[in-house]
Amino acid sequence: MILPGQTIGVLGGGQLGRMLAQAAQTLGYRVHVFEPQSQCPAGAVANREVNASYDDLAALTAFARSVDVITYEFENIPAGPLAALAALVPLYPRAEVLHICQNRQREKAWLRANEFPHVRFAEALDGDIAAAVAEVGLPCVVKTADFGYDGKGQMKLATPADLEQAVAIFRGRRCVVEAWCEFSRELSVIVARNLPGETRAFPVAENIHTHHILDFSLVPARVAVETARAAEALATRIAEKLGVVGLLAVELFLTTGGDLLVNELAPRPHNSGHWSLDGGETSQFEQHVRAVCGLPLGDPSVREPTVMVNILGDAWHWSDGKVVGAPDWPAIFATSRAKLHLYGKTEPRPGRKMGHFTVRAENVEIAFAQARDLKRKLTRS
Ligand SMILES: Nc1ncnc2c1ncn2[C@@H]1O[C@H](COP(=O)(O)OP(=O)(O)O)[C@@H](O)[C@H]1O
Ligand SMILES: [Mg+2]
Repeated sequence: MILPGQTIGVLGGGQLGRMLAQAAQTLGYRVHVFEPQSQCPAGAVANREVNASYDDLAALTAFARSVDVITYEFENIPAGPLAALAALVPLYPRAEVLHICQNRQREKAWLRANEFPHVRFAEALDGDIAAAVAEVGLPCVVKTADFGYDGKGQMKLATPADLEQAVAIFRGRRCVVEAWCEFSRELSVIVARNLPGETRAFPVAENIHTHHILDFSLVPARVAVETARAAEALATRIAEKLGVVGLLAVELFLTTGGDLLVNELAPRPHNSGHWSLDGGETSQFEQHVRAVCGLPLGDPSVREPTVMVNILGDAWHWSDGKVVGAPDWPAIFATSRAKLHLYGKTEPRPGRKMGHFTVRAENVEIAFAQARDLKRKLTRS
């Protein structure tokens, strides 16, 4: 067990690392952050910030020697350096888990090999997607195997003309081609698992994306109880099969036919779990700390129905590509049961996650209506 007073090392200095550090410090831990870019959101609150590249072995080794356990908030860390770190200090979730989840092709192959329900796909490992598209059929989505997030590195193909364009765009890149999924809802389940193998699933969240970026998360999700239980059970079985220690976020499609299909996995806190900071008995960040430190897991249940809204750089007032005004923050402060979380990023950019807010209410429909209303107010000049 790693106990309060000891030091947690976090690889990655974005907002997930920042909220993780804050939760860990509340419990009395010290937090060291390793992040290539200086002045990062997590570094601003950490006890120590190290700025070096993820393949700087000397810097990583020194970092490992300064902490009692290492975790990460960022998935694109090269596997080689991670394995070296794990030899010096416990690293959770284990490097093998990250290796699978950081690459779409490996992740999907793992889901298939372990017979978890997933969207039909074909691999295009040589960077020639035509055969894979022919196998899957149109419409479909081409996704690069590495370094995708918030819809980056993806293209939907509906017509043969799209294919021609995509062949040129993705030439030479390892890709997967997925069948287009007609879903009625997007859901996610975040599961915590600790070293002794105890698991706790957060209640399923309903996620609404706009332009492939998470816009709203609603908890509890507006789905049948049996669907919610099935999603939580499925995510728990995946976490157990992977042997995750820490959090595992499982993104799911609920198809129009009523099936649950896994979209992607992330072995870390997840944007769709931010509601838990205000609406949960235990936040996902505290739960991650508990899991990687070998502590008993917290109660993941919903205290109050909550809707989380992402605040992107788009919410600022823009003119000729320049920021000319900030969102109307007082609108959030003036709303009861609304909470603002900003990540300390100084430069807003379109599509960049700057913060989020939550709204709680007696039921999720009311919270959702208030959240949409508040989102409109926030961006109104
Ligand atoms: N096969 C698919 N069918 C329908 N929608 C999809 C499909 N793949 C992705 N999407 C949409 O794009 C979003 C982002 O894709 P995802 O694979 O989760 O990548 P990431 O979150 O890493 O950008 C999904 O949440 C979903 O809204
Ligand atoms: Mg996703």
